[in-house]
Amino acid sequence: MIKKCKIIDLPIIADQRGNLSIAEESQAIPFPMKRIYYLYDVPTGAARGGHAHKEMESVIIALSGSFDVIVDDGKKKEKFFMNRPHYGIYVPPFTWREIVNFSSNSIALAIVSTPYDEADYIREYESFKDQIKNYG
Ligand code: TYD
Repeated sequence: MIKKCKIIDLPIIADQRGNLSIAEESQAIPFPMKRIYYLYDVPTGAARGGHAHKEMESVIIALSGSFDVIVDDGKKKEKFFMNRPHYGIYVPPFTWREIVNFSSNSIALAIVSTPYDEADYIREYESFKDQIKNYG
């Protein structure tokens, strides 16, 4: 079955000192975690992403501020407004993603399933549309 984008609700441990959320492999994160990276100091109006991956799975979290994650499985596009650090959006392989409308001081954390490998990227939308036909 083809995996789908979905919002993941991370657990929150709240007390009078503030909140603590947890992203743990085999719990909220549905894949073995290999790498994290994060986007910050994104200028107003800039768009990140603009690619898909053949193997890499991700969970993207708005650690601070807000942004939109637009996902596209080749058939349907959906926009997720991310603005709380206890929500992540799961992005499976062969999903075109763009991240836009970053608020000031926002931080986008990506927890991903593979080491960095440029060969895993699909950076041309037309190539993505071709390859998605053979996926699943
Ligand atoms: P890219 O994945 O295109 O950024 P985004 O999806 O956030 O727009 O990466 C930008 C550049 O950084 C590109 O040259 C690849 C490089 N990069 C690494 O070297 N290692 C990494 O783990 C990542 C995520 C990117």
